[in-house]
Amino acid sequence: MKRHRKAPPKGRGVPRISEQHQELRHALELIDATEDLTRLVPLLQGLRGDLAAHFADEEGEDGLAQAVGPAAPHHLRRLEALLAEHAQLLASLDDVIERGDALLDGSVKQVVDDARALTRRLARHEAAETALLTDAVYSDIGGG
Ligand SMILES: [Fe+2]
Repeated sequence: MKRHRKAPPKGRGVPRISEQHQELRHALELIDATEDLTRLVPLLQGLRGDLAAHFADEEGEDGLAQAVGPAAPHHLRRLEALLAEHAQLLASLDDVIERGDALLDGSVKQVVDDARALTRRLARHEAAETALLTDAVYSDIGGG
């Protein structure tokens, strides 16, 4: 369920939900492989939007209840437990996003800004040394 997905899932009902499950697995793998917080938070935010739409499809009239109920009414309790978990999962995701966002706006941003300021200082320092060496060499040549 990446943002750069070419087209939204086609179809309705179970085929659409199954396609979403496959896309979700890819999104979760990508998130699992991402340790950089500046990349992780946007991925989680993208997942949040896709997940809300996916859960809405599952809970909708063409959703899981429609697929499971008539075919396998003995599984309805499992379905109810899974549907009840949707809100908890979204709340947990919101919590992680909020904490990640706070770090990106706060201490992580400060470290990134400080690192960039330091690279600019170092670049100026090295350039000044290069200028000194150049002046000295030209001065030596000029001065004989
Ligand atoms: Fe699902």
